[in-house]
Amino acid sequence: MGYNVYVTRAIPEEGLERLRRECETVEVNPEDRALTRAELLEKVRGRDGVLTMLSDVIDEEVMRAATGARGFANLAVGFNNFDVAKATALGLVLTNTPGVLTDATADLAWALLFAAARRIGECDRFVRAGRFAGWGPMLFLGADLTGRTLGIVGAGRIGTAMALKSRGFEMKVLYCDPSINETLEREAGARRVELNDLLAEADFVSVHVPLLDGTQHLFGAEQFRRMKPTAIFINTSRGPIHDEAALVEALRLHQIAGAGLDVYENEPRLHPGLAGMDNAVLVPHIGSATVATRTRMAVMAAENLLAIVKGRRAPNCINPDVYGRK
Ligand code: DGY
Repeated sequence: MGYNVYVTRAIPEEGLERLRRECETVEVNPEDRALTRAELLEKVRGRDGVLTMLSDVIDEEVMRAATGARGFANLAVGFNNFDVAKATALGLVLTNTPGVLTDATADLAWALLFAAARRIGECDRFVRAGRFAGWGPMLFLGADLTGRTLGIVGAGRIGTAMALKSRGFEMKVLYCDPSINETLEREAGARRVELNDLLAEADFVSVHVPLLDGTQHLFGAEQFRRMKPTAIFINTSRGPIHDEAALVEALRLHQIAGAGLDVYENEPRLHPGLAGMDNAVLVPHIGSATVATRTRMAVMAAENLLAIVKGRRAPNCINPDVYGRK
């Protein structure tokens, strides 16, 4: 007891409840918005640990401001908002929430794929605008899914789930990953190929890589040019993986047929012109946003944070080397 923790944004009650049971102070940002940098620097001071969002940049300045803290627990599987090397050097434990959001995120990738293939956003806007004047043989022709080729870039947990869900549509699956994924090969008949071969062959390209130095702008003008003009690009991982200026240009020139995006290069800002692209389906980073998934994430992040503040080995530690330093 006696622990003092800060939660940078309201999360499902189950997670807060978990913290309140074991901490003396659980302060939660009362505003329905991310903290400003100045607020973050002030609020982390004097806490035993902090539960953070993917939008909180936890760099050396924040870590040093968090005097007394033992670490930070992210409410996300992605942790590109953390300076991991710096945290390890400073002896701070970092955690994430893997596994519990795999299906929700893969499901959203499918929702975007369906929506882009069948032009659901355009159709919705058309009907609401009162422009539906009756069935037409050439009205909103889209793309088939069944039997077509799905290209998965990054065959980790979420990429694998996305690919396995394609079996109902009898799709051919190609994947690109540094490692062989035996589950995908066995269960979905997937074939591991080089990125350029995947881009040339796939009808749908879905990205599931983490944001690292080597994956930033993995998709730029050249990659969009290599895709089929009928292909659709889906990104539910992190925005900076695509060069958004190049993507807007590829959509504008119809170098690709469409895109489905959950994430943006300079989130929450969109690249100029993107919002006007009728062939793009855009949603506001909701990959894990289901009631059950966010509840599981909140409980997992709370349990991680409790382990951190108690000085126990945190279950989902992303910088285990930190324990060698203790
Ligand atoms: C994650 O967990 O990294 C997701 O982007 C959150 O929705």
